[in-house]
Amino acid sequence: MHSERGSFGSQSGVILASAGSAVGLGNIWRFPTEVGRGGGAAFILIYLGFIFLVAMPVMISEFVIGRSSRSNAIGAFQKLSPGKPWVAVGVMGVLGGFLVLSFYSVVAGWTLHYTIASAFGQLTAGGQSSVDFGQAFNSFVSDPWQPIIYLAVFLLLTHLVVARGIQHGIERYSKFMMPMLLVIIVLLIFFSLSMPGAADSIRFLLQPDLSKVTPEVILGAMGQAFFSLSVGIGCLVTYSSYFSKETRLVSSAVNVCIIDTMVAVLSGFIIFPTVFSVGIAPDAGPGLVFITLPNVFVLAFGKMPIVGYAFALLFYVLLLLAALTSSISMHEICTAFISEHFGKSRRWTAIVVTAVCLVLGSFCSLSFGPWQDVTIFGRGFFDLFDFTVTKFLMPLGGLLMTLFVGWYLDRKLVEQQLTNDGSILVRTMKPLLFLIRWVAPAGILVIFINELIDIFI
Ligand code: PHE
Repeated sequence: MHSERGSFGSQSGVILASAGSAVGLGNIWRFPTEVGRGGGAAFILIYLGFIFLVAMPVMISEFVIGRSSRSNAIGAFQKLSPGKPWVAVGVMGVLGGFLVLSFYSVVAGWTLHYTIASAFGQLTAGGQSSVDFGQAFNSFVSDPWQPIIYLAVFLLLTHLVVARGIQHGIERYSKFMMPMLLVIIVLLIFFSLSMPGAADSIRFLLQPDLSKVTPEVILGAMGQAFFSLSVGIGCLVTYSSYFSKETRLVSSAVNVCIIDTMVAVLSGFIIFPTVFSVGIAPDAGPGLVFITLPNVFVLAFGKMPIVGYAFALLFYVLLLLAALTSSISMHEICTAFISEHFGKSRRWTAIVVTAVCLVLGSFCSLSFGPWQDVTIFGRGFFDLFDFTVTKFLMPLGGLLMTLFVGWYLDRKLVEQQLTNDGSILVRTMKPLLFLIRWVAPAGILVIFINELIDIFI
């Protein structure tokens, strides 16, 4: 059975592919937005707590489920608990995979548009003010066709990688794109820290102002931690089903969490110095990287054209690469399940998944323009999908997976997975199991209940 399935060829492939899934728009687009809204350093502190105490245990639980069953997100639960309702966790994951890929690709499509525009020098063409950039952004995203075309091209790129399989597709491209991404980040940090707003931004990012912490900020931090690490919707169950028996689950998870957190915080250091330099409020919201940043590129261009041009282009290439390694992993949740469950070829299945997401993604894209007034439960498609995945499916999935591994699965099996059948020593076994059994589920539950009360009462 195992030999028929793909598998990752190396430990570095495992870490880079999983980190590729984790590092994405979540880190570079969503994280700075949330930090801006949550008041800077205080948000980051809470976020770090959620990453290491809650989201990382969920990640390790997903690894245990995926590698012990060597099956897709739904098949894994069918194998480990046949005939039991746990399979619902997998079903939620696959549904979540379709939803998240659909709305994510819309923003990735915008990124593609901005990458091309910056390559042609349009963003730094000069004479444009923030008003122009705001208008340009709004008229682009509300256009009925243009963003859908970019969405389709982006989905096609994702499709081409997934259709090639695990080693030749996902692993190969992650191994090439992730190091490139890190190099671009380092270059951008140099640009940014030489901007006049560097000192203010460092204060903003490092000096916590606890008065900004509200229940909403705490909830936002948890949602962000889940989204950023791709946990709770079976994505990492799917990836870890391709891990070999030598893959070290705990150290891989720790590495992925560290890489993901580093990229998020570094993105803050790329974006905020530039934001403070042009005197724009740091809580500009989702338009931050599409409206605020172009101002900075123009500013840099005015001083040294080549620097401004390179800064803009590199930034959007970075965003695009990061989005691509993440969308691949969302696609794989759905493709792996459908192809294994229905016994269809990967190529054929990938086409179905891409087509469905193109339709759903178009709905999301239209909700910024002609379908602005079409709402379900008071939300347009984009918001509805985003909300359903990040505020509902991910926390619930994460909760159920930690309960599954911590309380339902045989403790021996869990320890065998974590120690690779006793061949490695995991010194942190006790605290780790404590996090999986108690801390993570309790943390998620408290916040989740609060959220439900907020929504329904
Ligand atoms: N973690 C990705 C990001 O930060 C998003 C993602 C969510 C990827 C869910 C896979 C599954 O952008």
